[in-house]
Amino acid sequence: MPKFYVTTPIYYVNDRPHIGHAYTTILADVLARYHRSLGNDTFFLTGTDEHGQKVEKAAAKRGMDNLAHCDETVVRFQELWKKLGITNDRFIRTTQDFHVEVVQKVLQDLYDRGEIYKAEYTGWYCVGDERFFTEKDLVDGKCPECGREVQAIKESNYFFRMGKYQDWLVDYIKTHPDFILPAFRANETLGFLKKPLNDLCISRRKSRLAWGIELPFDPDYVCYVWFDALLNYVSGVGYLQNENDFSRWWPASCQLIGKDILTTHSVYWPTMLKAMDLPMPKTIFAHGWWLTGNAKMSKSLGNVVNPMDMIARCGVDAFRYYLLAEMSPGNDANFSEESFVARYNSDLANDLGNLLSRVNKLTVRATGGAVPECGALEEIDRAFLGECDAAASAMRACLDEMKLDQGINAVLGAVRAGNRYLEQCAPWTLAKAGKTERLHTVLHTAAEVLRRVAVLLSPVMPDKMTELAGALGIHAGEIGSICDLDGDFDWSGRTMKEIAPLFPRILEEERKDAPKTVAPAKKTEPETPLISIDDFSRVVLKTARVAAAEAIPDAEKLLKLQLDLGGETRQIVAGIAKSYAPETLVGKTIVVVANLQSAVLRGVESQGMLLAAKHGKELKLVTIDGEIPAGCRIG
Ligand code: ME8
Ligand code: MG
Repeated sequence: MPKFYVTTPIYYVNDRPHIGHAYTTILADVLARYHRSLGNDTFFLTGTDEHGQKVEKAAAKRGMDNLAHCDETVVRFQELWKKLGITNDRFIRTTQDFHVEVVQKVLQDLYDRGEIYKAEYTGWYCVGDERFFTEKDLVDGKCPECGREVQAIKESNYFFRMGKYQDWLVDYIKTHPDFILPAFRANETLGFLKKPLNDLCISRRKSRLAWGIELPFDPDYVCYVWFDALLNYVSGVGYLQNENDFSRWWPASCQLIGKDILTTHSVYWPTMLKAMDLPMPKTIFAHGWWLTGNAKMSKSLGNVVNPMDMIARCGVDAFRYYLLAEMSPGNDANFSEESFVARYNSDLANDLGNLLSRVNKLTVRATGGAVPECGALEEIDRAFLGECDAAASAMRACLDEMKLDQGINAVLGAVRAGNRYLEQCAPWTLAKAGKTERLHTVLHTAAEVLRRVAVLLSPVMPDKMTELAGALGIHAGEIGSICDLDGDFDWSGRTMKEIAPLFPRILEEERKDAPKTVAPAKKTEPETPLISIDDFSRVVLKTARVAAAEAIPDAEKLLKLQLDLGGETRQIVAGIAKSYAPETLVGKTIVVVANLQSAVLRGVESQGMLLAAKHGKELKLVTIDGEIPAGCRIG
């Protein structure tokens, strides 16, 4: 039986979870549910990172004992995961005895084999931040974090011989294209590995930081928190404790992380595993960040969105759906209440909710609720079912390639096709005209497609899709998996009952009391988000021949062009006067955006936009290589 072992980072218990943490955990949950539904042997591990300075500080601030602080805050994570329907098989806490034991065994073994050694280390210490920096970290000889004076400190520490694995790691990453994904994160790691890789300091003197796992070979030190934390991925599945479990699950299939912790996972972790003589995980996947107002959502910026508030307003499944549909996993995504409400209302309330309630009402009216039998299929039915098959294959491929947003989009495409199908087949007219067999075929086909949608979206919205299936007369246990979709489903004896809307619209008034997202304190450079092929195909680009061109009085940068778009004439205004004299343009075939809303510039109407490349102040028009008529679609 194929195996699937998925992990999330273990989160710090220094504060409450926010939607960033929720996102990684939901993503892992969807993958785990999907693999379970395929019948794969699946294990899903998440948990909390409870040692180190961040946690010690948080506890001190509350005047609490470290472990008591952890015991209290860990509950917030556990409760949130329960609320979000997370199906992790284990929740690991790094303060648990078995984990501490494993970490100490690993440390002792690496020490005995000379992979860990003691050395004198000169560093710079910032008393205010309680942190060490190396010479090159300093900014103008001062603390890079707060700008205060730093003290030179010489002390002995223990080091892991990470540097000696540099060449091996570079080679491993290059020869295993699925190891670090998306591919640009592998490149980022390779870029980092162009500089010499230092050995890793894995100890902290207890006199400065006591909250950690004691080094088994030197009680004056505790283990560096990352070295301890990363080992959760193996201790959580029985390493050095239960060899049966461990060989069943390790190596992990997919280790999900955010891009903030790429280096620890793409450099520290693989070299640790190599030194421990363990195989590498198949894939480490780093997703982007949730931003609010273009800044990373983080506790320190004070711009976090509390998942509990969102769930209270719109339910767990809509929240899961939004996070997965809105983010292309490799890129950053912006969280805003507006985009949440917009997506909820359009995808869930309008498209999906509507399709279900229409099919439901029409069926109740036609047969009293029994899902009717399917008669002979017509071309339109086959085309519609074909569209759904394509959506199912897209979803399957997207789940395997971590492009869940695109998979969801494909399924929603089928839902929209469903609403169009009803418009075109007009079952209400068929009913009036007494064309019962045709009416039954249309309703049956629509119900079948809704069933498939329930299967496809059930890893994302488990409860709502169970409800949807229930509304079609299908029990939870019968929903099945994507791979069952090819077979025939037994519809005999299924009855629909009249149901309340699955996703009631969120109305403007309800939003007034909603928590407002807080303005970010600091701006970071936003990454250009990827768009889907559907997004791109909404832009209509066409070839156009310039019929006439003239300057616009008092607008020294603008030209007014009359364009031939193949039988259609358009006027556009373009800011190219500094680069092109009007008369040189006439007769050229250029490229325009043909479906742009018209605008008025300096009192002149512009019905589109032309494409040009910009270099400094210089502009060059995009033209066509060879002869082609005006008005051709480009794409
Ligand atoms: O780094 N957008 O824990 P952490 C998307 N304990 N994901 C986000 C996010 C955001 N704005 N903010 C957080 C640690 N995350 C270590 C990990 S693993 C051996 C030790 C998610 O509490 C994302 O998965 O800071 C990120 O990598 C993780 O939470 C960091 O959680
Ligand atoms: Mg963090």
